[in-house]
Amino acid sequence: MTVEIKPQSGLKLIPPYKPGRSIDEIQRLYHIQDVIKLASNENPLGPSPKALLALQNAIHKVNFYPDGQNYALRESLAKKLGVPIEMVIVGNGEDGLILETCMAYLSEDSEVIVSQSSFPVYDIYTLAMRSALVKAPLENFTLDLQEMAAAVTEKTKMIFVCNPNNPTGTVVTKPAVDLFLKSIPDHILVIFDEAYFEYVEESDFPDTLEYIHDGRENILLLRTFSKVYGLAGLRLGYGVGSKSVLAPLNAIKEPFSVNLLAQIAGTAALDDSAFLEKTLDLNRNGKNYLYQEFKRLGIGFVRSSTNFILVDLGSESLGIIEKLTQKGVIIRPCSAYNLPGFARISIGDTDQNKRFINSLDEVLHD
Ligand SMILES: Cc1ncc(COP(=O)(O)O)c(C=O)c1O
Repeated sequence: MTVEIKPQSGLKLIPPYKPGRSIDEIQRLYHIQDVIKLASNENPLGPSPKALLALQNAIHKVNFYPDGQNYALRESLAKKLGVPIEMVIVGNGEDGLILETCMAYLSEDSEVIVSQSSFPVYDIYTLAMRSALVKAPLENFTLDLQEMAAAVTEKTKMIFVCNPNNPTGTVVTKPAVDLFLKSIPDHILVIFDEAYFEYVEESDFPDTLEYIHDGRENILLLRTFSKVYGLAGLRLGYGVGSKSVLAPLNAIKEPFSVNLLAQIAGTAALDDSAFLEKTLDLNRNGKNYLYQEFKRLGIGFVRSSTNFILVDLGSESLGIIEKLTQKGVIIRPCSAYNLPGFARISIGDTDQNKRFINSLDEVLHD
Protein backbone atom coordinates (compact mmCIF):
# COMPACT_ATOMS: atom_id res chain seq x y z
CA MET A 1 0.00 0.00 0.00
CA THR A 2 1.42 3.41 -0.91
CA VAL A 3 0.97 6.17 1.62
CA GLU A 4 0.31 9.62 0.23
CA ILE A 5 2.02 12.35 2.22
CA LYS A 6 -0.03 15.42 1.46
CA PRO A 7 1.85 18.65 0.77
CA GLN A 8 0.69 21.76 2.63
CA SER A 9 -2.57 23.16 1.28
CA GLY A 10 -1.11 26.31 -0.31
CA LEU A 11 0.55 24.21 -2.99
CA LYS A 12 -2.77 23.17 -4.51
CA LEU A 13 -3.32 26.63 -5.95
CA ILE A 14 0.13 27.16 -7.43
CA PRO A 15 0.30 26.89 -11.21
CA PRO A 16 3.64 25.29 -12.13
CA TYR A 17 6.26 27.90 -13.06
CA LYS A 18 7.64 27.19 -16.52
CA PRO A 19 11.19 28.49 -16.87
CA GLY A 20 12.54 29.25 -20.36
CA ARG A 21 13.70 26.18 -22.33
CA SER A 22 17.40 25.53 -22.03
CA ILE A 23 19.98 25.35 -24.81
CA ASP A 24 20.90 21.80 -23.71
CA GLU A 25 17.30 20.64 -23.98
CA ILE A 26 16.90 21.99 -27.53
CA GLN A 27 20.26 20.58 -28.64
CA ARG A 28 19.22 17.16 -27.36
CA LEU A 29 15.69 17.31 -28.75
CA TYR A 30 16.43 18.58 -32.28
CA HIS A 31 20.02 17.43 -32.72
CA ILE A 32 21.27 20.94 -33.49
CA GLN A 33 24.45 22.33 -31.99
CA ASP A 34 24.11 26.03 -32.71
CA VAL A 35 21.29 27.12 -30.42
CA ILE A 36 20.74 30.67 -29.12
CA LYS A 37 18.56 31.53 -26.15
CA LEU A 38 16.72 34.85 -26.16
CA ALA A 39 14.27 33.76 -23.49
CA SER A 40 15.55 34.58 -20.01
CA ASN A 41 16.82 38.16 -20.30
CA GLU A 42 20.44 37.19 -19.65
CA ASN A 43 23.43 39.36 -20.54
CA PRO A 44 24.68 38.46 -24.05
CA LEU A 45 28.17 39.79 -23.21
CA GLY A 46 28.71 37.17 -20.51
CA PRO A 47 29.66 37.98 -16.92
CA SER A 48 31.34 41.21 -15.82
CA PRO A 49 35.11 40.71 -16.47
CA LYS A 50 35.96 42.17 -13.05
CA ALA A 51 33.64 39.62 -11.44
CA LEU A 52 35.22 36.82 -13.49
CA LEU A 53 38.71 37.77 -12.37
CA ALA A 54 37.60 37.91 -8.73
CA LEU A 55 35.96 34.49 -9.14
CA GLN A 56 39.13 32.98 -10.58
CA ASN A 57 41.10 34.27 -7.59
CA ALA A 58 38.51 33.02 -5.09
CA ILE A 59 37.67 29.57 -6.43
CA HIS A 60 40.19 27.80 -4.14
CA LYS A 61 38.45 29.24 -1.07
CA VAL A 62 35.21 27.30 -1.42
CA ASN A 63 36.16 24.91 1.39
CA PHE A 64 35.16 27.79 3.70
CA TYR A 65 31.60 28.79 4.54
CA PRO A 66 30.66 32.19 3.18
CA ASP A 67 30.37 35.21 5.48
CA GLY A 68 26.85 34.85 6.90
CA GLN A 69 26.69 38.63 7.37
CA ASN A 70 27.68 39.28 3.73
CA TYR A 71 29.60 42.21 5.15
CA ALA A 72 31.94 43.23 2.31
CA LEU A 73 29.21 43.00 -0.31
CA ARG A 74 26.65 44.86 1.78
CA GLU A 75 29.20 47.51 2.61
CA SER A 76 29.98 48.05 -1.09
CA LEU A 77 26.28 48.25 -1.90
CA ALA A 78 25.61 50.64 0.98
CA LYS A 79 28.41 52.93 -0.21
CA LYS A 80 27.22 52.87 -3.81
CA LEU A 81 23.59 53.56 -2.86
CA GLY A 82 24.33 56.09 -0.11
CA VAL A 83 22.50 54.21 2.67
CA PRO A 84 23.68 52.72 5.99
CA ILE A 85 24.73 49.07 5.78
CA GLU A 86 21.87 48.10 8.14
CA MET A 87 19.45 49.07 5.37
CA VAL A 88 20.93 46.60 2.86
CA ILE A 89 20.09 42.92 2.58
CA VAL A 90 21.32 40.38 0.01
CA GLY A 91 19.78 37.11 -1.07
CA ASN A 92 20.00 34.03 -3.27
CA GLY A 93 18.87 35.98 -6.31
CA GLU A 94 16.01 38.44 -6.13
CA ASP A 95 13.84 35.33 -6.19
CA GLY A 96 15.36 34.34 -2.84
CA LEU A 97 14.55 37.75 -1.40
CA ILE A 98 10.97 37.62 -2.69
CA LEU A 99 10.57 34.25 -0.98
CA GLU A 100 12.05 35.54 2.27
CA THR A 101 9.81 38.61 2.16
CA CYS A 102 6.73 36.44 1.72
CA MET A 103 7.85 34.11 4.52
CA ALA A 104 8.54 37.07 6.78
CA TYR A 105 5.26 38.92 6.28
CA LEU A 106 2.47 36.67 5.03
CA SER A 107 0.06 34.39 6.77
CA GLU A 108 -3.28 32.76 5.99
CA ASP A 109 -5.30 35.91 6.51
CA SER A 110 -3.15 38.15 4.28
CA GLU A 111 -3.92 39.53 0.84
CA VAL A 112 -1.24 40.45 -1.67
CA ILE A 113 -1.88 42.76 -4.61
CA VAL A 114 -0.06 42.16 -7.87
CA SER A 115 -0.76 43.21 -11.43
CA GLN A 116 -2.02 40.96 -14.19
CA SER A 117 0.81 39.94 -16.52
CA SER A 118 3.61 40.60 -14.10
CA PHE A 119 6.46 38.53 -12.63
CA PRO A 120 4.93 35.14 -11.67
CA VAL A 121 7.26 34.41 -8.73
CA TYR A 122 5.16 36.83 -6.58
CA ASP A 123 2.12 34.62 -7.19
CA ILE A 124 3.91 31.39 -6.33
CA TYR A 125 5.32 32.50 -2.98
CA THR A 126 2.13 34.32 -2.00
CA LEU A 127 0.12 31.17 -2.59
CA ALA A 128 2.77 29.01 -0.89
CA MET A 129 2.18 31.12 2.25
CA ARG A 130 -1.55 30.36 1.85
CA SER A 131 -2.29 34.04 1.36
CA ALA A 132 -4.81 35.38 -1.13
CA LEU A 133 -3.65 36.80 -4.42
CA VAL A 134 -5.47 39.87 -5.75
CA LYS A 135 -4.79 40.77 -9.37
CA ALA A 136 -5.30 44.31 -10.65
CA PRO A 137 -5.80 44.80 -14.40
CA LEU A 138 -3.05 46.09 -16.70
CA GLU A 139 -3.66 49.34 -18.58
CA ASN A 140 -2.08 49.51 -22.02
CA PHE A 141 0.64 46.97 -21.03
CA THR A 142 1.51 49.13 -18.03
CA LEU A 143 0.84 48.57 -14.32
CA ASP A 144 -2.24 50.50 -13.32
CA LEU A 145 -1.30 51.87 -9.91
CA GLN A 146 -4.73 53.39 -9.40
CA GLU A 147 -6.34 49.98 -9.83
CA MET A 148 -3.74 48.45 -7.53
CA ALA A 149 -4.47 51.06 -4.86
CA ALA A 150 -8.22 50.54 -5.33
CA ALA A 151 -7.75 46.82 -4.59
CA VAL A 152 -6.53 47.53 -1.03
CA THR A 153 -8.67 46.03 1.75
CA GLU A 154 -8.14 45.69 5.51
CA LYS A 155 -6.41 42.36 4.79
CA THR A 156 -3.84 43.75 2.34
CA LYS A 157 -0.32 43.06 3.56
CA MET A 158 1.88 43.63 0.53
CA ILE A 159 1.82 45.11 -2.96
CA PHE A 160 4.32 44.12 -5.65
CA VAL A 161 5.18 46.89 -8.12
CA CYS A 162 7.37 45.45 -10.88
CA ASN A 163 9.04 48.50 -12.40
CA PRO A 164 9.93 48.06 -15.23
CA ASN A 165 7.40 45.29 -15.58
CA ASN A 166 8.31 41.83 -16.78
CA PRO A 167 7.09 40.71 -19.38
CA THR A 168 5.74 43.97 -20.83
CA GLY A 169 8.90 46.09 -20.41
CA THR A 170 6.96 49.23 -19.47
CA VAL A 171 7.52 51.60 -16.53
CA VAL A 172 5.35 53.50 -14.10
CA THR A 173 6.46 57.11 -13.72
CA LYS A 174 7.46 59.14 -10.68
CA PRO A 175 4.24 61.21 -10.65
CA ALA A 176 2.18 58.02 -10.75
CA VAL A 177 4.24 56.41 -7.95
CA ASP A 178 4.09 59.60 -5.82
CA LEU A 179 0.33 59.61 -6.05
CA PHE A 180 0.09 55.87 -5.42
CA LEU A 181 2.26 55.97 -2.30
CA LYS A 182 0.16 58.80 -0.85
CA SER A 183 -2.87 56.52 -0.96
CA ILE A 184 -1.24 53.43 0.57
CA PRO A 185 -1.46 53.13 4.37
CA ASP A 186 1.81 52.74 6.28
CA HIS A 187 1.03 49.21 7.50
CA ILE A 188 1.14 47.83 3.94
CA LEU A 189 4.54 46.86 2.54
CA VAL A 190 5.14 48.13 -1.00
CA ILE A 191 7.80 46.14 -2.82
CA PHE A 192 9.40 47.78 -5.83
CA ASP A 193 10.99 45.10 -7.98
CA GLU A 194 13.58 46.93 -10.08
CA ALA A 195 15.38 43.97 -11.67
CA TYR A 196 15.84 46.00 -14.89
CA PHE A 197 16.24 49.53 -13.55
CA GLU A 198 19.76 50.03 -14.98
CA TYR A 199 18.33 49.78 -18.52
CA VAL A 200 15.71 52.50 -17.98
CA GLU A 201 16.27 55.75 -19.90
CA GLU A 202 13.03 57.60 -19.13
CA SER A 203 13.73 60.76 -17.16
CA ASP A 204 10.48 60.44 -15.19
CA PHE A 205 11.41 57.03 -13.74
CA PRO A 206 11.11 57.28 -9.94
CA ASP A 207 14.21 57.21 -7.72
CA THR A 208 12.87 54.71 -5.19
CA LEU A 209 15.80 55.29 -2.86
CA GLU A 210 14.48 58.84 -2.39
CA TYR A 211 11.29 57.53 -0.80
CA ILE A 212 13.39 55.42 1.56
CA HIS A 213 15.69 58.39 2.33
CA ASP A 214 12.57 60.43 3.04
CA GLY A 215 11.86 58.01 5.87
CA ARG A 216 9.06 55.92 4.32
CA GLU A 217 9.05 52.81 6.50
CA ASN A 218 6.87 50.62 4.32
CA ILE A 219 9.03 50.30 1.21
CA LEU A 220 11.30 47.49 0.12
CA LEU A 221 13.39 47.98 -3.02
CA LEU A 222 14.67 44.80 -4.71
CA ARG A 223 17.28 44.54 -7.47
CA THR A 224 19.47 41.86 -9.05
CA PHE A 225 22.97 41.09 -10.32
CA SER A 226 21.49 38.68 -12.90
CA LYS A 227 20.90 41.13 -15.73
CA VAL A 228 23.25 44.06 -16.32
CA TYR A 229 26.13 42.46 -14.37
CA GLY A 230 25.74 39.11 -16.14
CA LEU A 231 25.74 36.97 -12.99
CA ALA A 232 22.41 35.10 -13.30
CA GLY A 233 24.04 31.70 -12.72
CA LEU A 234 25.58 32.78 -9.41
CA ARG A 235 22.21 33.84 -7.93
CA LEU A 236 22.56 37.22 -6.27
CA GLY A 237 20.03 39.92 -5.51
CA TYR A 238 19.85 42.81 -3.05
CA GLY A 239 17.25 44.75 -1.17
CA VAL A 240 17.09 48.17 0.49
CA GLY A 241 14.64 49.09 3.20
CA SER A 242 14.37 50.54 6.67
CA LYS A 243 15.82 48.53 9.56
CA SER A 244 12.32 47.71 10.74
CA VAL A 245 11.26 46.41 7.32
CA LEU A 246 14.38 44.22 7.05
CA ALA A 247 14.28 42.83 10.62
CA PRO A 248 11.70 40.05 9.91
CA LEU A 249 13.60 39.07 6.75
CA ASN A 250 16.84 38.80 8.70
CA ALA A 251 15.05 36.68 11.29
CA ILE A 252 13.98 33.99 8.82
CA LYS A 253 16.95 34.19 6.44
CA GLU A 254 18.70 30.98 5.50
CA PRO A 255 22.08 31.29 7.30
CA PHE A 256 24.28 31.13 4.16
CA SER A 257 21.82 32.06 1.44
CA VAL A 258 24.46 33.89 -0.62
CA ASN A 259 27.39 31.67 -1.49
CA LEU A 260 31.03 32.67 -1.17
CA LEU A 261 31.64 33.10 -4.92
CA ALA A 262 28.50 35.20 -5.39
CA GLN A 263 29.57 37.55 -2.59
CA ILE A 264 33.02 38.04 -4.09
CA ALA A 265 31.82 38.38 -7.68
CA GLY A 266 29.04 40.80 -6.71
CA THR A 267 31.43 43.08 -4.86
CA ALA A 268 33.77 43.16 -7.88
CA ALA A 269 30.94 43.64 -10.40
CA LEU A 270 29.69 46.75 -8.61
CA ASP A 271 32.96 48.39 -9.56
CA ASP A 272 32.73 47.42 -13.23
CA SER A 273 31.21 50.57 -14.68
CA ALA A 274 32.90 50.01 -18.08
CA PHE A 275 31.09 46.67 -18.44
CA LEU A 276 27.81 48.24 -17.38
CA GLU A 277 28.17 50.95 -20.05
CA LYS A 278 29.11 48.39 -22.71
CA THR A 279 26.07 46.28 -21.80
CA LEU A 280 23.72 49.26 -21.97
CA ASP A 281 25.16 50.42 -25.33
CA LEU A 282 24.77 46.97 -26.84
CA ASN A 283 21.23 46.75 -25.52
CA ARG A 284 20.24 50.18 -26.85
CA ASN A 285 21.55 49.37 -30.34
CA GLY A 286 19.97 45.92 -30.30
CA LYS A 287 16.64 47.36 -29.22
CA ASN A 288 16.61 49.92 -32.03
CA TYR A 289 17.57 47.27 -34.60
CA LEU A 290 14.77 44.96 -33.41
CA TYR A 291 12.18 47.77 -33.40
CA GLN A 292 13.10 48.60 -36.97
CA GLU A 293 12.92 44.95 -38.07
CA PHE A 294 9.58 44.36 -36.31
CA LYS A 295 8.19 47.34 -38.21
CA ARG A 296 9.54 45.95 -41.49
CA LEU A 297 7.94 42.57 -40.76
CA GLY A 298 4.66 44.17 -39.67
CA ILE A 299 4.89 42.76 -36.13
CA GLY A 300 3.37 44.74 -33.27
CA PHE A 301 5.59 45.34 -30.26
CA VAL A 302 5.55 47.20 -26.96
CA ARG A 303 8.30 49.82 -26.53
CA SER A 304 10.56 48.54 -23.77
CA SER A 305 12.63 50.10 -20.99
CA THR A 306 14.49 46.82 -20.45
CA ASN A 307 16.63 44.17 -22.15
CA PHE A 308 13.60 42.38 -23.62
CA ILE A 309 10.70 43.23 -25.93
CA LEU A 310 7.12 41.96 -25.88
CA VAL A 311 5.89 41.23 -29.40
CA ASP A 312 2.47 40.36 -30.78
CA LEU A 313 2.76 37.22 -32.91
CA GLY A 314 -1.00 36.76 -33.12
CA SER A 315 -3.06 33.60 -33.03
CA GLU A 316 -0.28 31.51 -34.63
CA SER A 317 2.24 32.49 -31.96
CA LEU A 318 2.82 29.05 -30.42
CA GLY A 319 3.45 27.51 -33.87
CA ILE A 320 5.84 30.34 -34.75
CA ILE A 321 7.72 29.94 -31.45
CA GLU A 322 8.02 26.17 -32.01
CA LYS A 323 9.35 26.63 -35.57
CA LEU A 324 11.90 29.13 -34.28
CA THR A 325 12.96 26.62 -31.64
CA GLN A 326 13.48 24.00 -34.32
CA LYS A 327 15.81 26.47 -36.04
CA GLY A 328 17.76 26.82 -32.79
CA VAL A 329 16.29 30.14 -31.59
CA ILE A 330 14.59 30.03 -28.18
CA ILE A 331 12.15 32.82 -27.26
CA ARG A 332 9.56 32.96 -24.48
CA PRO A 333 5.82 32.40 -25.06
CA CYS A 334 3.67 34.64 -22.87
CA SER A 335 0.46 32.62 -22.51
CA ALA A 336 1.43 31.83 -18.91
CA TYR A 337 1.56 35.62 -18.34
CA ASN A 338 -2.05 35.94 -19.48
CA LEU A 339 -0.84 37.34 -22.80
CA PRO A 340 -1.74 34.64 -25.35
CA GLY A 341 -0.47 35.52 -28.80
CA PHE A 342 2.51 37.38 -27.38
CA ALA A 343 6.15 36.40 -26.97
CA ARG A 344 8.99 37.98 -25.01
CA ILE A 345 12.31 38.32 -26.80
CA SER A 346 15.48 39.04 -24.87
CA ILE A 347 17.72 41.51 -26.70
CA GLY A 348 20.87 39.62 -27.69
CA ASP A 349 24.18 40.69 -29.23
CA THR A 350 24.31 41.87 -32.86
CA ASP A 351 24.73 38.37 -34.35
CA GLN A 352 22.02 36.84 -32.17
CA ASN A 353 19.54 39.58 -33.03
CA LYS A 354 20.23 39.15 -36.76
CA ARG A 355 19.91 35.37 -36.50
CA PHE A 356 16.60 35.74 -34.69
CA ILE A 357 15.22 38.19 -37.26
CA ASN A 358 16.36 36.06 -40.23
CA SER A 359 14.79 32.96 -38.67
CA LEU A 360 11.57 34.82 -37.89
CA ASP A 361 11.44 36.17 -41.45
CA GLU A 362 11.81 32.59 -42.78
CA VAL A 363 9.18 31.19 -40.42
CA LEU A 364 6.67 33.93 -41.27
CA HIS A 365 7.18 33.51 -45.02
CA ASP A 366 7.41 29.71 -45.13
C1 LIG B 1 11.05 41.29 -12.58
C2 LIG B 1 12.01 40.28 -12.08
N1 LIG B 1 12.22 40.19 -10.77
C3 LIG B 1 13.09 39.29 -10.26
C4 LIG B 1 13.77 38.43 -11.09
C5 LIG B 1 14.66 37.40 -10.46
O1 LIG B 1 15.97 37.81 -10.45
P1 LIG B 1 17.08 36.85 -9.84
O2 LIG B 1 17.76 36.21 -11.01
O3 LIG B 1 17.97 37.79 -9.10
O4 LIG B 1 16.42 35.86 -8.96
C6 LIG B 1 13.59 38.49 -12.47
C7 LIG B 1 14.31 37.55 -13.34
O5 LIG B 1 14.06 37.40 -14.49
C8 LIG B 1 12.67 39.43 -12.98
O6 LIG B 1 12.41 39.50 -14.28
